[in-house]
Amino acid sequence: MMEEKSSAVAVSERIDKSAMAEWEARCEHWIARLPAADAAHDLAHVQRVVVNARRFAEAEGADLAVVLPAAWLHDCVAVCKGSKLRSMASRLSADKAVQLLRDWGYPEKYLAAIRHAIEAHSWSAGITPQTLEAQVVQDADRIDSMGAIGVARAILVGGALGRALYHPDDPLCEQRRPDDKEYTLDHFFSKLLTLKDGFHTAAARTEAQKRHDFMQQYLATLKAEVM
Ligand SMILES: [Fe+2]
Ligand SMILES: [Fe+2]
Repeated sequence: MMEEKSSAVAVSERIDKSAMAEWEARCEHWIARLPAADAAHDLAHVQRVVVNARRFAEAEGADLAVVLPAAWLHDCVAVCKGSKLRSMASRLSADKAVQLLRDWGYPEKYLAAIRHAIEAHSWSAGITPQTLEAQVVQDADRIDSMGAIGVARAILVGGALGRALYHPDDPLCEQRRPDDKEYTLDHFFSKLLTLKDGFHTAAARTEAQKRHDFMQQYLATLKAEVM
């Protein structure tokens, strides 16, 4: 059993709904001007992460004043796949997000928790989420790699990098080790089908199981069609 994480900010200090909507609009406006880092990391990805972060936060009782700015700004510094700075991307985004929010006059008391939620969102950063809010943001980002949208994003990225869709003799890696630098479908076996057990919140775990089942069904159908 995972131990209960404490909510980062007390209920009495929460920002009201209409003020929060204005802060969100400000974050979205800023993010919308950025060029997409790659085919799977565009404004629509950020919008989906926000939708799921809000859903998981409401289900779990996490503080939206931390979760929503963190979700909007979680990828605010784009680092290309393959860049040496890739593993630092979430730290760079956390620094930039705090700087932006401070410049805009966002209440200072939330900034440390927002910084932690952004820093900890990506696995490559190797930082364990210490708060419920950071768990929600990580879950919301990760769930976007699964299900129908996960399939579509994997194929978009593989296509943009010029990879073949699948190994012609063994599309589902049944007799070989996955090589996702060569074959897009191999990314399911090296990563996407392993994600389901790494979620923190109950709300995300339920959704992850559905998306996992869909991906398995998709792969089985694809194999039946091409073999
Ligand atoms: Fe990210
Ligand atoms: Fe992301």
